[in-house]
Amino acid sequence: MNFDSGTAYQELAVKLERLYHEAAPALIERVRSLLDRAAAERSAALKAVDDARRAHPGWTEASGETVYACYVDRFAGTLDGVIGKLDYLESLGISWLHPLPLLKARPIDSDGGFAVVDYRAVDPRLGDMPVLEKLAGEMRARGMGLMLDIVCNHTAREHDWARRARQGDPKYRAYYHVVETEAEVQVWEETLIDVFPDTAAGSFTHDAAMGGWVWTTFYPFQWDLNYANPDVFCEMLDILLFLANKGVQGFRLDSAPFLWKRPGTTCRNQPEAYAIVAAFRAALDIVAPSVVLLTEAIESPAHVIPFFGDGRAGCDLAYNNGVMTALWAGLADQDAGIVRAMMTAAAQRPDHAAWLNYVRCHDDLIWNALADYASIDDLTRWSVFYGGGGFSAGRRFQTAPGGVPSTNGMAAALVGLERPDIDQDLALARLRALYGTIHALDGWPMIYMGDEIALGNDRDFEADPARRGEGRWLQRPTMDWERAGSANGGGNPAGTMFDAMRRFGVAARALNDLGITGRATPIRLASDAVLAFAREDGCPFLCIVNLSAASLTVDRLPPWDGLGLDLLTGRKIPAGQVSLLPYEILWWFGGEVAPLVG
Ligand code: GLC
Repeated sequence: MNFDSGTAYQELAVKLERLYHEAAPALIERVRSLLDRAAAERSAALKAVDDARRAHPGWTEASGETVYACYVDRFAGTLDGVIGKLDYLESLGISWLHPLPLLKARPIDSDGGFAVVDYRAVDPRLGDMPVLEKLAGEMRARGMGLMLDIVCNHTAREHDWARRARQGDPKYRAYYHVVETEAEVQVWEETLIDVFPDTAAGSFTHDAAMGGWVWTTFYPFQWDLNYANPDVFCEMLDILLFLANKGVQGFRLDSAPFLWKRPGTTCRNQPEAYAIVAAFRAALDIVAPSVVLLTEAIESPAHVIPFFGDGRAGCDLAYNNGVMTALWAGLADQDAGIVRAMMTAAAQRPDHAAWLNYVRCHDDLIWNALADYASIDDLTRWSVFYGGGGFSAGRRFQTAPGGVPSTNGMAAALVGLERPDIDQDLALARLRALYGTIHALDGWPMIYMGDEIALGNDRDFEADPARRGEGRWLQRPTMDWERAGSANGGGNPAGTMFDAMRRFGVAARALNDLGITGRATPIRLASDAVLAFAREDGCPFLCIVNLSAASLTVDRLPPWDGLGLDLLTGRKIPAGQVSLLPYEILWWFGGEVAPLVG
């Protein structure tokens, strides 16, 4: 949001009062000393980035700030390896790199790094703090930003705080939620929804040393932090400041909906969870205003949007999970209805907020997140379709009772590129349509590692005892650099996709220059199979996508009917009728400009 520091202090005070009531005044002084120290330690180079971004409020709303998400080890082995791949990322038009968690995690099973033992150290398997700073610096020099995953909802059971808690230190015991009787556990469980019901049933884990049941929303080794304790808030803020001063320009706040617990609720999306994120934002505005906050909340839009703040402090970015999931659903049904509904919901975001638009990520595709907009029959149909039916080579994943199974699989597998019985040209066209669409939406497009070369599922994960029990490893393959090499200029699927991805990025950035900056506004056309959206009413831009395997003709493009230009190819689109090949995507522009990307 980027407030001046006076306003940010006021915001911070409001949020801390909301969270900690009478403890707030003393806490504000404590936070002030953390902020003063961090401000004194912030380097001139980072302050220059702060000043530059502060001079352009609203810079986060520009299109084409493309993010690339990857696991460090699977992408390039180590952080040094990542530095060696910056040219590759630059050639793809990437502005931001989001490596999945890379801080020191517990050994062996760490839920892919989401069980951290030390937030101030890089996982030694990947590098160390100096090399992280070097990566951040090299990226800054190229005008790119490094966005780190901050696992703020829980620590590993082996974290020093948990270790001390288990040794009986009351200060650290109060960092976690410990329930002393089984009866109390049962009362909480009545309203909680399991995240991993098959592999980690329940939300509590008995720990003899703690003399009770520790709150573990995810795996038993991931201990939920108690944000009702202001010490926890200060610790996490101090970690954010420490990493921001190492040159990190963005944080992905992992599992943000779970930050606050309240009896009788699902303990997700509580008002205090929004206030915590807002307080982090306000504090960063004081010391490191250039740093962006991305909230990870895979929930219904009504629960995600409040993370952007109540018109004041809030996160800058949130995953556009609703539209992403709906795009897959729309492809399965060859019907744009659900996508339009989710776009309308996403358009309710506040002005300063930006969506992180994506097609796939390292987690499962959660159909249940569409439950406010679709019937259980719809959800079931999509779940079955992508769990190995339809054209998909995905697999079903666990779900809590009452929900439908989620889906695992790389985008390339879900569109059909791994199925010999499926037309491969059509499968590739589907992948292109999905990525072309998310680049045309308002917000930042994200490319999940490997999708730029249509990389398929990890077929080996089941041979690895450390991973075989967790289906999400299906979409966490090792980067295939040989395939990436063959993409260069090749007329193969990898090359077609790489080239398309690069063009989408260029075209997305060009939208800013053309003044096409409004939010995506769906438009209903005569054919249900065609998705169309403008970028706010009156703007001469329409993204038009054929979600079906049939060639179609659209008679009119309301409200425009004149000659247009496809911004993706520079091709002229005649007035009146528009013909679309199966899964074709057009970025119709009603102005006279030279072809952008030939
Ligand atoms: C987030 C991550 C997921 C992880 C969970 C627990 O949802 O994206 O991969 O398992 O948090 O940290």
